[in-house]
Amino acid sequence: MIQQALQDKFDAFTIPDELKKAGVYPYFRPIQVNNDTEVVIDGKHLLMFGSNSYMGLTNHPKVKEAATKALEQYGSCCSGSRFLNGTSRLHIELEEALADYTGKEACLVFTTGFQANLGTVSAFTGRSGVIIMDEYNHASIYEGSRLSFSKVLKYSHNDMADLERLLKTIPEATVKMIVFDGIFSMEGDIANLPEICALANKYQALVMCDDAHAVGVIGDCGRGTASHFGLTNDVDIIMGTFSKSLASVGGYIASTKDAINYLKHTSRPMIFSASIPPSGVAAAMAALEIIRSEPERQERLWQNTHYVSKSLTELGFDINTSETPIIPIYIRDNQLTFQFCQRLFEEGIFVNPVVSPAVPSDSSLIRLSIMATHTQEQLNICVGTIEKVAQELGVFAMK
Ligand SMILES: Cc1ncc(COP(=O)(O)O)c(C=O)c1O
Repeated sequence: MIQQALQDKFDAFTIPDELKKAGVYPYFRPIQVNNDTEVVIDGKHLLMFGSNSYMGLTNHPKVKEAATKALEQYGSCCSGSRFLNGTSRLHIELEEALADYTGKEACLVFTTGFQANLGTVSAFTGRSGVIIMDEYNHASIYEGSRLSFSKVLKYSHNDMADLERLLKTIPEATVKMIVFDGIFSMEGDIANLPEICALANKYQALVMCDDAHAVGVIGDCGRGTASHFGLTNDVDIIMGTFSKSLASVGGYIASTKDAINYLKHTSRPMIFSASIPPSGVAAAMAALEIIRSEPERQERLWQNTHYVSKSLTELGFDINTSETPIIPIYIRDNQLTFQFCQRLFEEGIFVNPVVSPAVPSDSSLIRLSIMATHTQEQLNICVGTIEKVAQELGVFAMK
C-alpha cells in the first residue's frame, strides 16, 4: 500500500508535467529509426547531435555482422553473472584485447560503465581510506564513493592547488585514491592528468581515470587520456565504457593482474548482476578493431569538432572550457534551455538539455556531441539552425 506521505511526495513532483504542459518535455523520446547521424522520431527526420556514438559505429556493417553471428552462436543472453554461468569465450577475448589496447596487464568487463565505476570506486580504499575526487565527476563515481564507506573529499573542478590542499590533510600511511573523468561529460574539458599524476606520486595515492568519453576520442588510436598525455604507467586504474565510441553497452576496468583478480572476486556489481549478452560483447570487439585499424575516423572526429567549436565561438556562443567533441552551449537558464532544445527539435536538430540539478541552474546548457560520421553539410545545418534559434529566442551571444 502506498502511504499518504509517499503519495504526497509523488503529487509534489510536478516538474515533468509542467514541462509537458509547456510543450518542452525533452525526455524518453521513442526513436523509430537510428542511423547514427540521422534519426526518425514520430515520423520526423532529425539530425542527431545528442549521441555519444563519437565514432559513428552503431550501424557499421562489421559491428552488426559480429553481433548477429554471436547472437546465432550463443543465443540472446547468458542468463547469469560473469562470476558463475555468464562468461563466454567472447568476454575473455574482449578483456584480453582491452588490456592490450589500454596498455595494462589485465581487464575486467562489467555489464555497464556505471557498474564498472560503482564496483571499482567502492572496492579498494575501505573504511579507513580516503577517496579524493573532482567535483564534476560522473554520478557513478559519486555512487561508488558512497558505497566505499571511505572518507570522500572533493576538489574544485580541475583545480590542482585544491587537490594538493586536500592531499596534504591525509596521513601518509592512509590508502587514498584520486578519481576523475578523463574527459568531463558535460563540460567537454580534459583532466589535468600530468599534474594529478605528479601529486599522486608526491602523496602516494592511487590514480583512477574514467575514460568513458575519452575512448576513441583522445590518445593514440583513441586509447584515452593516459595515452594522450603519455602517462599510461602512471594511471593505476583505467575505466572505460562500450556505450559511447565502442557501439555497444558495457564497461571495463583495466589495471594490474592483482587489482583485477581482487575485483573479479569481490566486486558486488559484477558478481551479483547478469553479464552483457555475447552479441553486445561481439559488437564492442568489432568496434574496437575498427577504431584500432582506421585512425582516419579519429582524425575526422577532430576535424568536425574543431569546425563546430570554432563556428560557435565565432558566432559569440559561450562554450566555456570545452576542448573535445562534447560541446556545451551555456544558456544559464533552465527554462530557456528547454525552450531552445524544443525549438531545435522542431527545426530538425536533436540535442540534449542539461539543467539543474545535473548542473547548477546558472550553468544550464545545451550539450552537443559531435561524431566522426557527421558530414560537412550536417554540421553546417546544425550551426546555422542554432544561430537562427538563438536569434529568435533572444539568447544569442549570451557570453
Ligand atoms: C563519465 C561517465 N562515466 C560513466 C558512465 C556510465 O557509463 P554507461 O553508460 O556505460 O553505464 C558515463 C555515461 O553516462 C559517463 O559519462
